[in-house]
Amino acid sequence: MIYLDNGATSFPKPPRVSAAVWHCLRHYAGNAGRGAHKMSVFAAEKIWETRSLLASLFHIENPEVIVFTQNCTEGLNLGIKGILRPGDDVVISDMEHNSVYRPCIALAEKGVRTLFAEADDDGTVSPEAILKSVTPRTRMVCLQHASNVGGGINPIREIGKALHEKGILFMVDAAQTAGCVDIDVMRDYIDILAFPGHKGLLGPQGTGGLYVREGIDIHPLREGGTGSSSESPFMPDFLPDRLESGTLNLPGIVGLLEGVRFVLHHGAENIGRHERNLSMRFAENIKHLPGVRILGPQEGMQRTGVISLAVAKRDAGEIADILNRRYGIAVRSGLHCAPLAAEKFGVLKTGSVRFSPGVFTSAREMDYAFRSMREILS
Ligand SMILES: Cc1ncc(COP(=O)(O)O)c(C=O)c1O
Repeated sequence: MIYLDNGATSFPKPPRVSAAVWHCLRHYAGNAGRGAHKMSVFAAEKIWETRSLLASLFHIENPEVIVFTQNCTEGLNLGIKGILRPGDDVVISDMEHNSVYRPCIALAEKGVRTLFAEADDDGTVSPEAILKSVTPRTRMVCLQHASNVGGGINPIREIGKALHEKGILFMVDAAQTAGCVDIDVMRDYIDILAFPGHKGLLGPQGTGGLYVREGIDIHPLREGGTGSSSESPFMPDFLPDRLESGTLNLPGIVGLLEGVRFVLHHGAENIGRHERNLSMRFAENIKHLPGVRILGPQEGMQRTGVISLAVAKRDAGEIADILNRRYGIAVRSGLHCAPLAAEKFGVLKTGSVRFSPGVFTSAREMDYAFRSMREILS
């Protein structure tokens, strides 16, 4: 199968990722922080090593402020529901994924108001649009770094700086950029960063994380055992324990460790360039086919490798199905869990077909995808 669905989850993983998962399960899968025996201590060391590598990837000084989650959605829920209180406003864009949109809307019954900053036609959001939506009650802005539909990268540094000056918290959804765009939490004025482990960081599914700037208190959504302050009926007041109750996904985390090592070795920017070059090459060819419209920014630099197409008079699901069955190509079709983005791009009824190359995708595979599309549309 030619796998062009890395926007959903990356595949294949570097061989060391699966080797590390297997080795962990076979040799040392003790419960980190729950015992003083060798296996538990070794597990804790592996978890610490992963936190440390993630810290160097995102330029975070203290690895303890990185919390492991099951995916990006869990981190986003933690940040949104753990911070916002009745009477607060939260600003999101009209391009957000349901993992931001739904938790915000769910807070309406608790008296939190969601305001929408309007993205440009290419799906990117300007600092001006964000500032226009901010009110005196705005506690937080939560914004995707890049769209999973149009691929446009938002100018988070400029937005973060403007919000910092106003004392508004800035939470970034890095689902589509962690591992393929350079992220520096200090330079980009990011207060809270949610990221998946299973996409661009090349770890297994069931992994993700949340960075929380020191001094910000996120109320836990889940209470339970942490292996620390066990005599207290309350959750510890320090990170990561405050937000990490219950046994961690050690096999997943050691797989993620190898994924992050791979990203650091090759460089997120280089990986991003490779993916972007592939999708731009694909775009150059496909844009000449009749009825095809490419969603999002048309040029290279301010986009990721995700490329979605609307095809006149054709249903996206039908095209994805033919690609799968007849050509052995895996893509995603539909609304991509982002109905707001689909509405913005005018594809709420038909959906779009998304091609998302990964670090291991070759130009030959992208060319084959183009030729397959040409046949389907001819
Ligand atoms: C922009 C965006 N945000 C959030 C998510 C949710 O990520 P996860 O599946 O890791 O929860 C995705 C997943 O595709 C995404 O593309």
